Amino acid sequence: MDRLKITGGRALNGSVAIAGAKNASLPQIAAAILSPEPLTLTNLPAVTDIATMLDVVARHGVAVTRLSDHAVTLDAGRADPVETGYDTVRRMRATVLLLGPVMGRFGRARVSLPGGCAIGARPVDLHLKALASLGATIDIEGGMIVGEAPGGLKGARIVFGSPSVGATETAMMAATMAAGETEIVNAAREPEVVDLAACLIGMGARIEGAGTHRLLIAGGTHWKTARHDVIPDRIEAGTYAIAAAITGGTLELSHARLEHLSAIAQVLEAVGVSIWPGDRGLMVSACGPLRGVDITTEPYPGFPTDLQAQFMALMCRAEGASMIRETVFENRFMHAPELMRLGANITLQGTSALVRGGAPLRGAQVMATDLRASVCLVLAALAAEGETIINRVYHLDRGYEQLDLKLRRCGALIERLKD
Ligand code: UD1
Repeated sequence: MDRLKITGGRALNGSVAIAGAKNASLPQIAAAILSPEPLTLTNLPAVTDIATMLDVVARHGVAVTRLSDHAVTLDAGRADPVETGYDTVRRMRATVLLLGPVMGRFGRARVSLPGGCAIGARPVDLHLKALASLGATIDIEGGMIVGEAPGGLKGARIVFGSPSVGATETAMMAATMAAGETEIVNAAREPEVVDLAACLIGMGARIEGAGTHRLLIAGGTHWKTARHDVIPDRIEAGTYAIAAAITGGTLELSHARLEHLSAIAQVLEAVGVSIWPGDRGLMVSACGPLRGVDITTEPYPGFPTDLQAQFMALMCRAEGASMIRETVFENRFMHAPELMRLGANITLQGTSALVRGGAPLRGAQVMATDLRASVCLVLAALAAEGETIINRVYHLDRGYEQLDLKLRRCGALIERLKD
């Protein structure tokens, strides 16, 4: 397994091209299964999670034609409702997103139930509830979710108790093929949900209300050939904004969109970081001292849970204390003990972490448990004295395109050690 060696203490300066959003791309690749007409997706990030999803749809009979590292045409004209087994779902939880399109297109699906994962239990009950509301019978047999709707799905009112990105996407995709209209109440409002709606609309679907809590979807879509350009990755952009801040540098984040990053931009301004729109995206600069600021993670447009770990690394470098509350996932502080190995002063209590900033960070061997935890350790290592070795780099490769190269081009001392 590859490792990263980082020698910290250098300010990052330069330009980083922000890739397409991984979490927007994944459901759009799954959505290709809905339509017998080809879908071309551009601006896909070249990361392993995308390769995995392309692999999985190919196993469903979708013809995948690579146009470049960042573009594919997906032709599901001859797709099959094959089973998605445990090995696949365990490799990447997001393969659960196949459930909606496969049920919508074929009226039956078998997808393995994901187990627990590194950031908590992460149930899929809301996905199943949505499909049941659309008239499917859902059973769990031998660890598999077995969905059946022999007469097809039927439009319905789906009310989510709490907003879920994935369940909203499942419901939206399935509803495009239901008979009649579907209303989704308390839908997730994340830009990735809005981008999925835009992609589906391009494919012929009729969807209103994307970006609000209430979605209206007309069923019985007449599909057509489509081409969709995936939005830039707001989490990658936020991560590099924090990289500029934690090293006291100035970065241009080309393609990044401020409107997707308003919560993080506001918080970073309060920390003492300057953010302004540039010619090609966003500029981020941190020249003065950093101040400790409290945050609470929330569904969009609140502070994203996917930037909580990176922000915790930043708070280790700030003057004063910061209280970080995680309300989206339980058990999402696995990075805190690793940050402490670098010298951070963090007290965990339930869903809160108190970071007392200013303690010097010193390089060490660390290991990460998930994608965002890994990148938080990279950020801390960039600001630490001496050398840090980060194990299990495959987590980073799942979601960050050429992270080491992008950082090196901005002045970081970072090296990939091959095993
Ligand atoms: C997506 C993102 C992930 C991000 C998360 C929250 C993808 C591929 N992943 O994950 O990076 O951290 O949104 O912004 O897009 N829940 C249930 N039952 C369900 C579904 C969810 O209880 O059936 C709970 C979850 O455990 C969690 C909360 O709802 O506590 C929000 O999760 P959700 O928005 O569904 O996250 P994902 O779609 O899995």
